[in-house]
Order: sequence, then C-alpha cells, then structure tokens
Amino acid sequence: KAFDVVVVGSCMTDLVSQAPRLPKAGETIHGHKFFIGFGGKGANQCIQAARLGVKTAMVCKVGKDFFGDNYIQNFKDNGVHTDFVWQTSDAATGAASITVNDAGENAIVIVAGANMLLGRAELQEALPAISHAKVLVCQLEVSPQTSLEALRMAHDNKVKTIFNPAPAISDLDPDFYRVCDVFCCNESEAELLTGFSVANVEEALQAGQELLKRGCGAVIITLGPQGSVVFKTQESASKHVPTTAVTAVDTTGAGDSFIGALAFYMANYSTMPLEEMARRANQVAGVSVQAAGTQTSYPTKQDLPDELF
Ligand code: RIB
Ligand code: NA
Repeated sequence: KAFDVVVVGSCMTDLVSQAPRLPKAGETIHGHKFFIGFGGKGANQCIQAARLGVKTAMVCKVGKDFFGDNYIQNFKDNGVHTDFVWQTSDAATGAASITVNDAGENAIVIVAGANMLLGRAELQEALPAISHAKVLVCQLEVSPQTSLEALRMAHDNKVKTIFNPAPAISDLDPDFYRVCDVFCCNESEAELLTGFSVANVEEALQAGQELLKRGCGAVIITLGPQGSVVFKTQESASKHVPTTAVTAVDTTGAGDSFIGALAFYMANYSTMPLEEMARRANQVAGVSVQAAGTQTSYPTKQDLPDELF
C-alpha cells in the first residue's frame, strides 16, 4: 500500500503565450500561440515520476472550480493517487501566466490561490502516506511552513527527502537544510540563497559547498545546458555531470522533470550513485525541453532509451 514517491506541493493551471520575445514593462506585443496546460512545480514533479513508472501520491489543494475538477482528473489519468488532493471554496485553483520566447526561455507570474491553504490539518491526514513513502518531495509554491513541516515528518520517519527551493525566497528558514537528504536548485535559486554569482560550473562549486555546509545530505545545482553539479557530505570532491546538447523549444518545467526523475531514481535504485541519478535525470529533462508545455512534454518510460532504466 506504500507509495514510492509522495509530493507535497502545488498545482497550477498554466496559461501559456508563445511570443517572439518577453514583453518589457508597459509594453504590449503580439504572440503567436496560446494554450492552457497542467502545471505547478509540485504536480509537475509528481507527474514526471509517475510517468517513469513508480507509485505516486500527491498532497495538495485546488479550488472547488472548473480548473480544480480538471486537475483531479489529470492526476487520475496519469495514475497519481488523489486521496490527498483537497478542494476548497475559499480560494481559486492556482494559476500561472507564462510567456515563452522563441529561444524557449520563459517568464512566469503565479497566483498560488488554493495552494496556500494546504496546511497542518491536511498533512496530518496524509501522515500515513508521508511516513511510509520511499521518497518525499517539496518545493516553495505552497506555504513554506507547510513544506518544512512535511519534510520534517518524512525526515523523522527516515523517508528520503528532496527539497527544491523553487521559487526561491531570500529568508529561507535554516531548518530546511537540516531536513533534506537532497537539496536541489537551479543557478538563480543558488544565487539568491548564497549571494554568490552562479553563471558557470566553476562558480556553482562555491555556491554548492556553501549550501552543503548548511546541513543537507547532498546538494545538486542544475545549470540547464551545462548539466548539473553534485555535492555530497561524505565526499570532499564535487562532481560535474555534463549533458548532451538539445535544441530547446520550451524549457518551462524542465527543472521539475529533472526533480521528478530524480525522485524516481532515488525510490527505485537506492544504491545508484547520486551523480548517476543526476546524469539520467538530465536526459529525461532534456527530452522535455524539446516540446511545448510542461507536463505535455514529459516523457514516459516507453519514450526513453532502455539504458535509463
Ligand atoms: O516550473 C514550472 C512551473 O512553474 C509551471 O508549470 C508553472 O505552473 C509554475 O509553477
Ligand atoms: Na517542455
């Protein structure tokens, strides 16, 4: 009955406009395409893990509205357990306004809505699932207190934890570092959290060591086309994991694909070195950037080469 991967986190309806470039303040520009998709970092990560073939459950809150109803159906269609998906009439389902430019880069505004009403009461109800999971994953699109509480619950029960501090906040509670086995962030989040510039592998080494010192078991900094860097407390040397170049169509949610894949490997291949998991997760995320949208672009096990399994 236990789940491999439990995600405590966000659901957002993604309202995506593709345009030649991102607009400046006060400017109106013509885009060439609009679509609505299922997003939110937590749900994205959960869906990617599920598509790779593990048993997943999502702990989240959506609105008692059309978008919320649709979102629950989306989880079911992807085989994600929905007993811990709550609906509220006190707020709307979270929404993300996303602009994607011709280089595949994006700018996003999220209105978290119902996600912010996920709290301690729901975590208590989900405790049996959280405490028996192989891996628990959290981000920062729900209240930070809720994320920290979920990570603590998992950590106290010897469940492996992944924390993705996205979107990053400058006043992150230092306890977050102490309750995560793997702290996984991108270059801009690493910059905000450490105050160091993180533009290349060399600079990532400094930031990663600083984050590691704060008490997590391991740190992964993802660097987009430059791959990722992995730091472990038991090993003084960090490892740069390069990735193969791909042509980016839409990088939105690539980081979530990486985290979801990482959770899959941690749950399923407990003895695999973390840098090998990162290498494989990079390849999964690399597939996702070659198609539009977030979840719509996430590969299933069947879409990927056998060597990744
Ligand atoms: O990480 C990508 C996600 O960020 C999008 O799906 C959007 O919903 C925002 O939460
Ligand atoms: Na994509």
